[in-house]
Amino acid sequence: MRFFLIGYMGCGKSRWGKLIANHYNYKFIDLDTLIEEREGLTIPEIFAKCNEEGFREKERQALLAVKDYNNVIIATGGGAPCFYDNISKMNNLGETIYIKVSPELLCERLLNSKTERPLVKGLSKFELLQYIENHLELRKAYYEQAKYQIVSGELKLEDFIKLVDSIIKYQGQNN
Ligand code: S3P
Repeated sequence: MRFFLIGYMGCGKSRWGKLIANHYNYKFIDLDTLIEEREGLTIPEIFAKCNEEGFREKERQALLAVKDYNNVIIATGGGAPCFYDNISKMNNLGETIYIKVSPELLCERLLNSKTERPLVKGLSKFELLQYIENHLELRKAYYEQAKYQIVSGELKLEDFIKLVDSIIKYQGQNN
């Protein structure tokens, strides 16, 4: 089985991904980390050197490379499903789960996060919330193409596991 976690920056893809991978004894891949390893540069350095367009190409290549892994949870970058036909690719390669979080909570988490994210760097709290609201509206159409959705906020690990269990069971019956 191959699971892709998708959703906006700060929705918890990496955090949930690690917990779920640990529970099922699956491998965990963070797509941004994979890109950084492949390029020998950090995400902000790639943005500075190649602009967003160059980053998206590298992101696409890294995404295609994960087809070599099985029994894996892949936390994708927030923009990954929204470029090229990446969301269709992910839906073809595995099970996609959209982690849905309100703009207010995303804003709080991004303000408190230590990860440097070029798209939102330097924005004030007010600007950030506006940015997220507008950006999420644009990205929603891609995120909602995921096969499954889970609403995060008060989400517990056992709820997430219930969803993944049901997907694994469903796949087992249909293969
Ligand atoms: C991005 C999200 C980031 C990273 C890059 C661009 C985006 O990943 O891929 O900074 O376009 O939403 P996270 O979602 O893990 O922050």
